[in-house]
Amino acid sequence: MAPVPKNAAGKEKLFIFDTTLRDGEQTPGVTLMVSEKIEIARQLSRLGVDICEAGFPAASVGDFESVQRVAREVGPLTEGRASGEPMTIVGLARSVPADIQRAYDAVKDAPKHRIHVFLATSDIHLEYKLRISREECVKRAVAAVTFAKSLCADIEFSPEDASRSDWEFLVTVLSAVVKAGATTLNIPDTVGYNTPEAFGELMAYLVKHVEGADQVVFSTHCHNDLGLATANTLAGVRGGARQVEVTINGIGERAGNTALEEVVMAIHTHAKSFPVYTDIDTRQIVPASQLVTKRTGCVIQVNKAIVGGNAFAHESGIHQDGMLKNRETYEIISPELIGLTQSNGLVLGKHSGRNAFRSHLEALLRDSPNHDLFVREPKLVDTLFVRFKEMADAKKSGVTDSDLYALLDEVLHLQ
Ligand code: KIV
Ligand code: ZN
Repeated sequence: MAPVPKNAAGKEKLFIFDTTLRDGEQTPGVTLMVSEKIEIARQLSRLGVDICEAGFPAASVGDFESVQRVAREVGPLTEGRASGEPMTIVGLARSVPADIQRAYDAVKDAPKHRIHVFLATSDIHLEYKLRISREECVKRAVAAVTFAKSLCADIEFSPEDASRSDWEFLVTVLSAVVKAGATTLNIPDTVGYNTPEAFGELMAYLVKHVEGADQVVFSTHCHNDLGLATANTLAGVRGGARQVEVTINGIGERAGNTALEEVVMAIHTHAKSFPVYTDIDTRQIVPASQLVTKRTGCVIQVNKAIVGGNAFAHESGIHQDGMLKNRETYEIISPELIGLTQSNGLVLGKHSGRNAFRSHLEALLRDSPNHDLFVREPKLVDTLFVRFKEMADAKKSGVTDSDLYALLDEVLHLQ
């Protein structure tokens, strides 16, 4: 394992490589303007992301310009960052000299910059996409990394479709690119094919067998086609990876990439059992999620882990009662920890109980002349609760605060 920083508790640093601006932008229908990429990159810097893949500079003039401007304008920022270091800005390149030169030209003005070179290694990609032999694949990978290294010290190599490649062949390619100067070896599950057991095993096998493995950082890059991206990424970390490639809200090609917020909060929640720590400021997760939603137009599902609209919402009476007594009965993360500041998370609907209902009404009345209503009229809450249940049964979309004000009005007028 390459020397990675350790914290006071002896845990190794897990580098967070965010590719929202590159693989995330490959979400069907998403295009980000230069100014939007800069705005998101600034938020990623505040969030504490270590490495920011800002784009694929050879893809278009616009992408080159955005990567260059992120490198120049966001690359130097260190304010509020726990690591004290600026982000490393990365440009992606195919294993061809023109792409590699373009990537270098785009990132070189950032104080810390990296070229990320990729080449497929699975037989299906070699035979049908690239139409080259395994020998030619090794030659091209070495030539690409050698050229990249002549421009830049920090070189990442990705064997695309690694999870469907022959393991021994992967060892051959990766050992050769380490010799040519690669400093990070990223292992992509390009089509989201792996299961956690298989991906963890593959990572451990590569860490054990690649020549020069102790000089480099291994990395995960998982796609979510089977809904396993986060689980596979965590298994990769247990297998020895010390960099994870992720996107905000898990956006990306097809079913998307591993979601940053899920990996970071899983490691935070299970800190005792993971041998790693991150420098992410978790309170910046919700602002980052909301910004990416706004700028990409990709609305997240309400039940999405960590950042979905319902991730901290509780509807059933039993849960609401527990929450009112101690939030930890039904919440494993405090909403404040991820930067969520509003509401007590109790949603009123037909499953809600009397306690939650009363507590919600008291909150609504707190600053009104009726703030002591239930002290003056202790029985009123029962009348209101019966009317509320009738209303909740009749409504499809839950009971809102305006419905409750109307209910209060109605009942108070009848008195
Ligand atoms: O999914 C993938 O294989 C990629 C590579 C370019 C790293 O995005
Ligand atoms: Zn990818």
